[in-house]
Amino acid sequence: MAQSPHNEAKPLLYRAPPEVRGMVSLDRDAFTQTIVIPSIRVPKGVLNKVVKSLRRAIVQRPGIPRVVQDKENGSDEDDLRLVLLDPLRVSSPSSFNEAEAEALRSFGVPQELQYYNLQLRYSNLKTEEVLEAVLPEGQEITSAFSRVGHIAHMNLRDHQMPFKNLIGQVIMDKNPGVSCVVNKTNMIDNTYRNFKMELLAGEENMVAKVKENGASYEFDFSRVYWNPRLSTEHMRMVQEVKRGDALLDVFAGVGPFAIPAARAGATVLANDLNPESHRWLQHNVKINKVAAMVRTFNLDGRAFIRGPVRQELPALLQANAGVHIVMNLPALALEFLDSFRGLLGREPSCDANLPIVYCYGFSKDDDPERDMVEKASDSLGVSLEGRCSVYFVRNVAPNKDMMCVRFAVPKEVLFSTDQTEPKEEPAPKRQKCGETTD
Ligand SMILES: C[S@@+](CC[C@H](N)C(=O)[O-])C[C@H]1O[C@@H](n2cnc3c(N)ncnc32)[C@H](O)[C@@H]1O
Repeated sequence: MAQSPHNEAKPLLYRAPPEVRGMVSLDRDAFTQTIVIPSIRVPKGVLNKVVKSLRRAIVQRPGIPRVVQDKENGSDEDDLRLVLLDPLRVSSPSSFNEAEAEALRSFGVPQELQYYNLQLRYSNLKTEEVLEAVLPEGQEITSAFSRVGHIAHMNLRDHQMPFKNLIGQVIMDKNPGVSCVVNKTNMIDNTYRNFKMELLAGEENMVAKVKENGASYEFDFSRVYWNPRLSTEHMRMVQEVKRGDALLDVFAGVGPFAIPAARAGATVLANDLNPESHRWLQHNVKINKVAAMVRTFNLDGRAFIRGPVRQELPALLQANAGVHIVMNLPALALEFLDSFRGLLGREPSCDANLPIVYCYGFSKDDDPERDMVEKASDSLGVSLEGRCSVYFVRNVAPNKDMMCVRFAVPKEVLFSTDQTEPKEEPAPKRQKCGETTD
């Protein structure tokens, strides 16, 4: 039996050997060490009851057993077991609380501590414990990553770069189902909102398969936009769409608004400028079996609004269907609102039914709601004050919020003859409208 470790046993259970500091290529064996932890000797007959009564004092580590054979009791080895205790909780018999001590007494188990030599391996350490031991002392450890199917993507800092492959390997080892770890190497500021990525560990397979709100999506994560943090917003927005409504998605990506809306029974027009997004959007329409409900386009957002949307809108409004126009390109979408100016020209207006726009934007303003209303109003050329709602979607960076402004496109915008856009598109076929005022 091991010697009492005094104070030393406490941190060792949660700490790798100091020799691993500075390791850049992962050597899992170098993490193996023998540490000494407290235990109590328990007769087999009362083992389950003791384990239950002491559950908060028992060691809890991935891969470490709570109960082991007592090889050193000398007499009848089979009758006794050692229950391993958490050295952070138990350092002497007086560490047991009242209830634990009473339980041990009632089961006739002596509170005397035994010291057990435990082999601690790489597999018993958590990600942060491994990285804390390896990276230079005092520097920030980041083990955070976002998960997209089998891909974990990280945002490493400069000081972590020398350890990038080791970090990737540890993330892969410690997270079942992750078989590829990548680091983002640029800000998401290009047209198609995708990241440049560098492979840190695993197979270079960027085609992810994910489920979101009951629908399946497949896409090349290195070439399209996908953000798992938007799943709640996708669901929230689509809940407004009813069977028989229409959803017109100007910046559709690979379909996280379009496909659930089609599954809910809406007619969908979905557009994205990125040919790669468009290709995966079409694929996702197929795998979700909603091809009958969805038409896809590969156009600039403005051309989509002034082409297919303009074409379809009169009939949709006339049919009194709910028409939802979603514009999720937060860095730029507000600027696209001017495409609605005079969109239906002299079409007879349908007062009762106007399309509802959900336009996303980023705001760094102290008053993001006012900021969104002002920007949307400027772009539309009429004030939305008092006739829109603005809600907070998520915080994307310190002092930067993603917001959504929701409004019915004002009649005087839609049916105006004052267009800021070039007028080369063919005028939409005039439709009769149930109730007209102008
Ligand atoms: C922020 S992503 C949103 C995608 C999707 N709606 C979602 O919620 O995941 C914006 C999308 O707009 C597309 N995009 C960027 N500029 C565009 C433009 N001028 N016209 C149409 N689509 C554009 C990008 O390719 C990208 O897929």
